Amino acid sequence: HQYQEAYRPQLHFSPGAHWINDPNGMVYIDGSYHLFFQYYPGGTTWGPMHWGHATSKDLVHWKELPIALYPDSLGYIFSGSAVVDSNNTSGFGKDGKYPLVAIFTHHDSKGEKAGTETFQNQSLAYSLDQGQSWTKYAGNPVLKNPGIRDFRDPKVMWYAEQKKWIMTLATKDHITFYSAPDLKNWKKESEFGLTVGAHGGVWECPDLFPLKLNGKTYWVLIVNLNPGGPNGGSATQYFVGHFDGHEFVPVDTRIRWIDYGPDEYAGVTWSNTGSRKLFLGWMSNWNYANEVPTEKWRNAMTIPRELQLRQSDSGILVTSMPAKELYKNAAGMAITLTNVKLNRHLDLSKYTGSLKNQYVLKVNFARIQDCSVHLVSESGDKLTIGFDKAKNRYYIDRTNAGIIDFHKGFAGRFYAPRLTSSKSADLTLVVDKSSIELFADGGLSVMTAIFFPKANLEKLILESQTEVTIQKLQITGLKSIWK
Ligand code: FRU
Repeated sequence: HQYQEAYRPQLHFSPGAHWINDPNGMVYIDGSYHLFFQYYPGGTTWGPMHWGHATSKDLVHWKELPIALYPDSLGYIFSGSAVVDSNNTSGFGKDGKYPLVAIFTHHDSKGEKAGTETFQNQSLAYSLDQGQSWTKYAGNPVLKNPGIRDFRDPKVMWYAEQKKWIMTLATKDHITFYSAPDLKNWKKESEFGLTVGAHGGVWECPDLFPLKLNGKTYWVLIVNLNPGGPNGGSATQYFVGHFDGHEFVPVDTRIRWIDYGPDEYAGVTWSNTGSRKLFLGWMSNWNYANEVPTEKWRNAMTIPRELQLRQSDSGILVTSMPAKELYKNAAGMAITLTNVKLNRHLDLSKYTGSLKNQYVLKVNFARIQDCSVHLVSESGDKLTIGFDKAKNRYYIDRTNAGIIDFHKGFAGRFYAPRLTSSKSADLTLVVDKSSIELFADGGLSVMTAIFFPKANLEKLILESQTEVTIQKLQITGLKSIWK
């Protein structure tokens, strides 16, 4: 593929054509990262859901494969996860081959229209050829709806200590944990979240996994929320706590967000990657995902990110940074400037020329002050990323960054709090044709925003209120992942 359309992401996965939403069934096996996704092959707006499929050997280049799961008599194929069942607990394995098992929600749209409450149920499919072909389990569904309208998005993991699978399920306004020895016979373990966390909308697409901090294991519970995000619409919150195979107990009641920007949603992690935790989100927002001005396809995924725990001034937090594989595609521009005096205005064109390609910009300050980075086009479109010292927050402003009129509220300035009191700061910006991802302070404050400029944003301009010293500034050009 050589995708060249005006807004086609050059660093991010997007489908050749048609609609996508949530990443699904992400699993690493035999050197391949599998990415399934909510897919409607009949159009560029949300419709009867399938699981589309792509794989990557390096988290950078993606190969789109045939559709993995089609809707059937039990309904559309909604979000879910996939696991490597290496002990063949499910019995789906054959001739010494262990199965890959997908656990997903069957969404019965007819039942929904008929007014039942029980139209979402959990089902299985398995593959004996590394995910190339899938067979749905004849005994579906394996977990029946007990009468909860929103009962979906199973994320399953192996809990080795108790030799059982744990399913984390979004059940309307809270999480319900289930366990099963065999992926088929699920029993309820506990509920979590009715009285903690953000509740501006319905809870969706959860994830549960352990991460270590200074040798100690904590459990991270991701819960996507729509609407009710910090900048409106859909967003990803998480909790840090303890899990004993039965119950999740949070360390505190603080509300935490993986990404404060408007355009990261339904983010979850790959399974079977050992202690490395890799996260991917859908790079859009339910507020306008069906209206963004692309023609052939609609929506893309974020850059794969690596999650870690960090003890911060305000508790234990998850940091996200671009997975280091991103830099494998470095090409062309490689600029490093040190001790740059930014005295109100600095046009970087004299170093960069016109920025035709996608790139990563890194900036280090010994002492962060009010400052901003502007990505500007010939036609006057301008995207601004900045820090407001008085309010101690980062922002992205796409008000003047191109086409905004397809949705009221798309234009605007979006904020993320700064979560460290350290004087020094580092910013990493991943810049693609129609998206920007900001990773500040080692990934403590993250924001993703999409934008649709009328012409490429070819100029980089830095601004400050007072004189600011930039310790180091690096620009790394990146090749298109489609070439
Ligand atoms: C989240 C979501 C999931 C659901 C899927 C349907 O974006 O609403 O809860 O399974 O999308 O496409």
